[in-house]
Amino acid sequence: MRAEATGGDEASLVRDERATAVQCYASRQNPPLVFVDGSGCELLDVNGRRYLDFTAQMASACLGHRHPGLIGALRDRLDGVLVGPAYIHPERVRLASRLIEVSGRRFARVYFGVTGSDAVEASLKFARKRAGRWKVISHWNGYHGSTLGALSAHGVAAARQPYEPLLAGFVHVPPPDLRHGDGIPDTNTEQAVARVRNVLEREGPDQIAAFITEPILVGGGMIIPTDSYLAGLRSLCDEFGILLVYDEVVTGMGRTGRMFGFEHAGVVPDMLVLGKGLTAGSQALSAVLVRREADPFAGWTSADPTHLHTLAGNALGCAAGLATIAAIESEGLVENARLRGLELISGLRAALRDQVRVLDVRGRGLLVGVELDPRDEDPKSLERRATLAVRELGVLVQGNSGPHALLVLHPPLTISAPEIARAVGAISDSLGRLG
Ligand SMILES: Cc1ncc(COP(=O)(O)O)c(C=O)c1O
Repeated sequence: MRAEATGGDEASLVRDERATAVQCYASRQNPPLVFVDGSGCELLDVNGRRYLDFTAQMASACLGHRHPGLIGALRDRLDGVLVGPAYIHPERVRLASRLIEVSGRRFARVYFGVTGSDAVEASLKFARKRAGRWKVISHWNGYHGSTLGALSAHGVAAARQPYEPLLAGFVHVPPPDLRHGDGIPDTNTEQAVARVRNVLEREGPDQIAAFITEPILVGGGMIIPTDSYLAGLRSLCDEFGILLVYDEVVTGMGRTGRMFGFEHAGVVPDMLVLGKGLTAGSQALSAVLVRREADPFAGWTSADPTHLHTLAGNALGCAAGLATIAAIESEGLVENARLRGLELISGLRAALRDQVRVLDVRGRGLLVGVELDPRDEDPKSLERRATLAVRELGVLVQGNSGPHALLVLHPPLTISAPEIARAVGAISDSLGRLG
């Protein structure tokens, strides 16, 4: 920890934040938390209390807090000139080639953005331009971001409804859920793929530009589609000339125990959207990796339309991206995510086996959900009570009350075995007291 950790007046920070900054997610934390320092997987609040950060700040801080390599790279680049999108700077060129390398050269071009949401938007614009079609298919309960196009693909009804009507031509199919209302696992992949085919045929495949999905539906309840479901989507897209877009804003950059989530099923999408962990949460930077056959700007001439954000691919962000990939590789963090993830899942399954409030523990790598049984309680209220109970024992987890009441765990990829054991103990103790 930094010795000179900032003190500060918690009450006035909270009051001013609510009055001015309107950070709606922070305001939902009750009581609110003010963090002033930390290192590795630990955070220190304004009152000097330590927490294990099993949120990695919305799954972005994949290298943990105050990672020396990341700090060094940012410090070095901070002293450089500011180069916008009209000119070339070395970091952008190098990061694009590194991304192509680490994705096994399955993609040919990289388009940079600023946030996960604008990269999702870009992928959908690219698909429209490339395919000369306009409709977009996605899953109910899929999470794709906050801007209007991304929100139109988004499948969480509560997030969509306040902003409706959303964009035309966005159509949703049922999520490939592991269980239906009766709790019976949906192993009938063929049936699920047939449901999608049915929607595509009804919508008119020759109008459909893209199918966008996360390889694991995280915000939608940690739904892990079967490999054959994803393969089924790929062949439907091939059959109908639809571009398959994977939103790997959460699952990318080692999170699932592979560099990218698509590697598990071996289904290669036409476009891959990255954000969050791309800079280990340190800078606003996102990217769309595009296969050569799907490139909307192949043979680009200056008369062609373009796609532009002034700060997309900014040098500091790209320097952070390069440092993140270097740390992931040199510290073996993809393998660490796989091994620690296995420990986390098996540890939680064993510790929570007899807890009546726990329905399921599922996940892949360091992306894990603990599904709770709401019984007669509102799932949102249960999720908040549980999140708070875990936090009281010194572990930060994210709650999710979409279709399921869920605790979502995605710690930094640098997490150690003792830290996993500590979190398992705290989660088990706190859920045991839920009532
Ligand atoms: C799967 C997924 N896609 C896109 C986004 C949007 O990213 P951002 O919040 O950086 O706009 C998120 C954000 O949580 C996400 O989880």
